[in-house]
Amino acid sequence: MVVAHEGAVRVALLGCGVVGTEVARLLVASQRDLAARVGAPLELVGIAVRDVEVPRDPVVDPALLTTDAEALVDRADVVVEVMGGIEPARTLLLRALARGAAVVTANKALLGQDGPTLYAAADAAGADLYFEAAVAGAIPLVRPVRESLAGDRITRVLGIVNGTTNYVLDQMTTTGLELDQAVKQAQELGYAEADPTADVEGFDAAAKAAILASLAFHTRVSVDEVHREGISSVTADDVEWAGQTGHVIKLLAIAERVDGPDDGVVVRVHPALVPLGHPLAGVHGAFNAVFVEAEAAGELMFYGRGAGGAPTASAVLGDVVTVARHRVLGGKGPVESSYADLPVHPVAQALTRYQIHLRVADRPGVLAQVAQVFSTHGVSIEAVRQGRASVGADLADLLVVTHAARDAALAATVTELAGLPAVDNVQSVLRVEGA
Ligand code: NDP
Ligand code: HSE
Repeated sequence: MVVAHEGAVRVALLGCGVVGTEVARLLVASQRDLAARVGAPLELVGIAVRDVEVPRDPVVDPALLTTDAEALVDRADVVVEVMGGIEPARTLLLRALARGAAVVTANKALLGQDGPTLYAAADAAGADLYFEAAVAGAIPLVRPVRESLAGDRITRVLGIVNGTTNYVLDQMTTTGLELDQAVKQAQELGYAEADPTADVEGFDAAAKAAILASLAFHTRVSVDEVHREGISSVTADDVEWAGQTGHVIKLLAIAERVDGPDDGVVVRVHPALVPLGHPLAGVHGAFNAVFVEAEAAGELMFYGRGAGGAPTASAVLGDVVTVARHRVLGGKGPVESSYADLPVHPVAQALTRYQIHLRVADRPGVLAQVAQVFSTHGVSIEAVRQGRASVGADLADLLVVTHAARDAALAATVTELAGLPAVDNVQSVLRVEGA
């Protein structure tokens, strides 16, 4: 058993993988600076792992490794959770908070699914719960939304919060790769996991969107309330068409207020067309970027590395210093604020624009029939472009861009279009954002 030094803040690290190893490295490498910033030494008293026999980076002191995470939690002032997953992380963090220990976590899956339970436990115990690393890795985003903008009224948060899918879409755009080839490349580079589902299907982005929406709108938003579409249906053809119309395809997370009689919020994650001139179109590789729009502040943009061991560890350590300072100097960070308790509406309520790519019969009257369907659903057309289809001599490709309309009306339009005899098939439907 490791005995803490007098006056030291005892830190327990749960997990020693990609992020945990870098957290351990920073705790060792910056020991003196961290002590000066906190006002007391930070002492790493143990590291919980699944298997102590796994070969580790030399920075990890083998004497600190344990498989008894519960015992470790019970002798810490600050518990840093970078093990991931729902259980045993949730039980361990609730145990830490019940003891009054401060918690720092990077676990967006847990916060997105069961954040309120943890917030309530932290509140009840008067303990700190910090999670800067859970959204957009190194980018300071949670604190600005939770604290710096606490005096303003946030209306929208929109951005790229998943580095893996941004890398995949960027590769498809720049090299013309199909999705599965780009995912394989992302796996080879260590961005995508062996099972890429959480990233590719938008689960990771949806969890982050739920966390951001909860903070921005002082409302509890669970990941189950986030409309989620991943990028698995995006084809090289879609990407090429996007380029031809002056767009790139990005996986966006959007949380926005819907004002008026339906006052509430809509939170959605889906691939979208972004105009080439928009700053989000210039976010390449595995980088993240998020716009926050607030009434008084206007538009703010946050950009940087959203993943990776060292960048994520930077955000974790920032939280560790903050909560350790609270231990030394007294006080505590902000508690969860869900006073607004706004209803979370389905995506049908969102105001958005669509670009619909149809393959239609190339004969008189077809364009009029198509236009009639839009009119029936009260959707206004902004632009139409027609070209000869690459397959079928009597077919044409029709690209219709709409003005903003309720998502429900747009979806109903697409359903009816798909049933028109003159429509050979609906090639793709993408929302357009940032125009
Ligand atoms: P890894 O899979 O690389 O590491 C997980 C670590 O946790 C391993 O050391 C593992 O032990 C340990 N662990 C897992 N389950 C248990 C358990 N039941 N009991 C004890 N130890 C356990 O994950 P990452 O470092 O990539 O991610 C950690 C967290 O950080 C996740 O919540 C992730 O979402 C989040 N995050 C990750 C980012 C990244 O870029 N990687 C970016 C932002 C957030 P062992 O080594 O013995 O297998
Ligand atoms: N899988 C995540 C991503 C890691 O690609 O962004 C960071 O949360």
